[in-house]
Amino acid sequence: MSQTKERLADKMEFPPETQQPNVFPLSWHTQTRKLQEVWEAALRENWDPEKLPWDTLDVESYSWEEREAIGYWWTLLSVFDASAPPVFAQALIKTYEVHEEDPARKCFFSVTRDEQNHEIMCGLAIRKMLGHPDPLTYQPKTDLGRRLQKNAKWLYYNGGRYWNGYKQAVPKYSLAVLFSSFLMGEIAAATIFKQMYENTREAVFKEGFRHIGRDEGRHMAICMAVMERDYPKLATEDKALVTKQIRAGYLFLSAVLFEPPMDFWDLPADFIPNQREAEEVARGAGFGIPTYEAKLQNWRQAMLNMKGVLDRYGIAFPAIPEVGITGEEITEVDMADIIPVF
Ligand SMILES: [Fe+2]
Ligand SMILES: [Fe+2]
Repeated sequence: MSQTKERLADKMEFPPETQQPNVFPLSWHTQTRKLQEVWEAALRENWDPEKLPWDTLDVESYSWEEREAIGYWWTLLSVFDASAPPVFAQALIKTYEVHEEDPARKCFFSVTRDEQNHEIMCGLAIRKMLGHPDPLTYQPKTDLGRRLQKNAKWLYYNGGRYWNGYKQAVPKYSLAVLFSSFLMGEIAAATIFKQMYENTREAVFKEGFRHIGRDEGRHMAICMAVMERDYPKLATEDKALVTKQIRAGYLFLSAVLFEPPMDFWDLPADFIPNQREAEEVARGAGFGIPTYEAKLQNWRQAMLNMKGVLDRYGIAFPAIPEVGITGEEITEVDMADIIPVF
């Protein structure tokens, strides 16, 4: 033992107070029953992407264009879902640091696990469709495939820009502020995966979408429970932050749930045409990506639901002119400002 280290146990009966925030709570309080229910559902609904019926997928029955288009969609999803495990792992640590109630810690643990499942699912689908484990180093077989790989590289570049900002934001803000844009994403995600489940022909993908949609529904319930618990006592300056976060969440998540807004996402001019072409090919092959119109309606509805929640707590909703929603004007949102959640 080091000689410079002062021993306290010889001098006092009880140790000094542990400085906070400290990473571990020695308590298991339950305040929000709903969170406990969601945790129990997460245990019941556990699934393993590797155990899905992959042997029923015959990739040879697809053309190379179809394989590349479907592989691209999974790549697009993985830009969000492959960053979700570390994002939620960091949030999980925060729930311990701030000594969140026991069921909240369990819920954030379950989201981390779910998101890793989604990421594993993306990887399995990509490996099958492309015959290669990495969409960025894969050798494209068709002209569309080449253009989609360029898209994928730009998506990856953009997605890589927020991590440092996120790490700085986590210690600064409360869970309620950090995950305010989370709810909107979860509402839209739960709907989109349900639609994809209904419209996809391939059994193994259908099964994957069923599980992912159910997971996203639970994430939505976690959000609602945390909001109902914390929003009534939210400080005025935090309300303004929530409004900004909602706008940031819209801009960020639009790339996968709708279409990427070009003033926020740094993407080449042919990005959207290439992506639309791929979606058309994938839909033709029985892969149920919602149409532009369906995505627009879905996204708009998610935001109206979110607006309904915020109205209840007197929190202003940002203007989302892209889908026809009026509200508070929020400008100058940057990748570095966003707290990504999916
Ligand atoms: Fe997810
Ligand atoms: Fe999620």
